[in-house]
Amino acid sequence: MNQISPWGDPTQTADLVRKGEVGSILNITDPVAINALQQVAMEESRLKIPLLIGRDVIHGFKTIFPIPLGQAASFNPEMIEEGARIAAIEASSQGIRWTFAPMIDIARDPRWGRMAESLGEDTYLTSVLGAAMVRGFQGENLNDPASVAACPKHFVGYGAAEGGRDYNSTFIPERLLRNVYLPPFEAAVKAGAATFMTSFNDNDGVPSTGNKFILKEILRKEWNFDGFVVSDWASVSEMILHGFCKDEKEAAEKAVNAGVDMEMVSYTYVNHMKDLLNEGKVKMETIDHAVRNILRIKYRLGLFENPYIEINKASVLYADEHLRKAREAAIQSAILLKNEDNILPVSNNIKTIAVTGPMADVPHDQLGTWVFDGDKNHTQTPLQALREEYEEKLRILYTPGTTYSREMQTNGIPEAVRIARQADIVFAFVGEESILSGEAHCLADLNLQGAQSQLISELAKTGKPVVTIVMAGRPLTITIGRDVENSKAVLYNFHPGTMGGPAISDLLFGKAVPGGKLPVTIPKVTGQVPIYYAHHNTGRPFVGNETLLADIPREAGQTSLGNTSFYIDAGNEPLYPFGYGLSYTTFKYDNISISSVRPNASDILSVKCDITNTGPYDATEVVQLYVQDCYASVTRPVKELKRFDRIYLKTGETKTVTFTLPVEELAFYTIDMKKTVEPGTFKLWIGPNSREGLTADFEVIN
Ligand code: NOJ
Repeated sequence: MNQISPWGDPTQTADLVRKGEVGSILNITDPVAINALQQVAMEESRLKIPLLIGRDVIHGFKTIFPIPLGQAASFNPEMIEEGARIAAIEASSQGIRWTFAPMIDIARDPRWGRMAESLGEDTYLTSVLGAAMVRGFQGENLNDPASVAACPKHFVGYGAAEGGRDYNSTFIPERLLRNVYLPPFEAAVKAGAATFMTSFNDNDGVPSTGNKFILKEILRKEWNFDGFVVSDWASVSEMILHGFCKDEKEAAEKAVNAGVDMEMVSYTYVNHMKDLLNEGKVKMETIDHAVRNILRIKYRLGLFENPYIEINKASVLYADEHLRKAREAAIQSAILLKNEDNILPVSNNIKTIAVTGPMADVPHDQLGTWVFDGDKNHTQTPLQALREEYEEKLRILYTPGTTYSREMQTNGIPEAVRIARQADIVFAFVGEESILSGEAHCLADLNLQGAQSQLISELAKTGKPVVTIVMAGRPLTITIGRDVENSKAVLYNFHPGTMGGPAISDLLFGKAVPGGKLPVTIPKVTGQVPIYYAHHNTGRPFVGNETLLADIPREAGQTSLGNTSFYIDAGNEPLYPFGYGLSYTTFKYDNISISSVRPNASDILSVKCDITNTGPYDATEVVQLYVQDCYASVTRPVKELKRFDRIYLKTGETKTVTFTLPVEELAFYTIDMKKTVEPGTFKLWIGPNSREGLTADFEVIN
């Protein structure tokens, strides 16, 4: 029930294993060392129980895929499953049989640095993609040596940290918890997830690591989870700082009695469990239950029969196939936000390109957060890729403009302007270094850091077309009179990983067509946060003709502007909505139809729509289906994603997309906290994003 992260003298770790004080180790990656410790466990410890070796393999082990938020932009569960499979193959080849992923926290606040690790703001998308990751990590059968146990995290509500500040308290009422935050975790259990991790936050005063309601009532009783639960790093002893426990002993008692089977690193179980048992504060059956849960997973992983790693096998790390898939993933994860005058893809008339910006050639930073094992020497940056592919055909000029994303110095900008003047098109690579997102790296201001906006603005003044390529860990407010307006085109990439360079080069030159869609809303200004499409309506919704600050007459009468729920400075519209993303081609949506306009709760709806590729490129479109429950016993979101499909259309081609939607999937936790479909009117949309689309209404009858 104890997990350690070794440091210092390795013989000390071996001693602890020999004494039977350790069941799992995280953060060792040397297969020889892993085998040696495993041998101590198997031959020298009293009970001869194999160790389980864990690691944060979040978006790749050596071959780094786009950060999870980027992968989510693909809306492609098959590709995400393959990415997780590749991560498992690489990690397990080094002895790692457990990853602390997927992170399926709903993330609606980009100030929170961990949004990077999430699959975005939406419950349905996160459920589908999170389950795909679980399947990918765990493979067909956990006892395949190339399978890695998944650990959906952080259970639960961690993404709702107040103010978007990591580790902060959350206040999620039970209905919201059940409707929005829990479904991805339930989907992960259904996908067979072997383990779960508790979250750092306290929700309404109860830290997750001591929360019986979520761990026993929901996870074990409602969902029948039979794997094991691990705490987050020291989240057992941190219950003291939360003010939830007097001391370490009470922390151990509360955690184990709540249902935390394994403690990550804080050692309170080892130090206090015997006394707690003797004092009757913890029952033997509680410990038996925890141990059984852990052993069950160790058996399923085949560790008892097969505890050691084969050392001399051919390396699978950075295999060509893995790099190819990582490149494809980066392509599918890129989102085209703007493309004025179809400036992209780059036309054949272009002779000289200027490449600039602090993200054009930063092998470390384009990998993103949580890269413990991926080596930056394998990274292919955009500058390298462009040079490799086009140097003989085109003149490629380069200067970084500013040396890193936070750099305030502007003395590199004149050189960037000088090369821009000589070029036919400018590629400005901006964004965030990887250290600006991820765990504990939150921001109160979501603008581009340093002098980057100034760089783009000076480039725009040259009159040359500026294509801004962003690489970041979150949506940034690249807006209002600045970055987007100063760019002819904007291609947004959440840190794209090892193969980001070739992927972006393929997209810029039209060897690939962008098809990614935003898995999160991009705000215009930080003060709009939290901003997400599936909000509730208020009794005074924003109508769209509200007066903005600049147009309000002096001494305007108090009620002359109307009384709607509105920001008079920034308005309510996001910069770009959830689900948004352009292509080099265009798509037309026609002929929505629905199999029944008066279904009952047990019916299965079939909803159809024709999509035509009306532009000049063969391309993929992510077709999205949203539903609104117009009135109910409790208020419901204005829209909720219920289905999506990726379709490939040749230019001129039309396809009919058919979505099958059981009416029971419209159920929610009602006023009585029962999951039910309530009769009444529903609106349905099929469209290219959460703001546009064809609509159809239907009424659910009893
Ligand atoms: C703390 C993080 O919150 C969690 O996501 C991670 O898996 C553990 N540390 C282990 O590194």
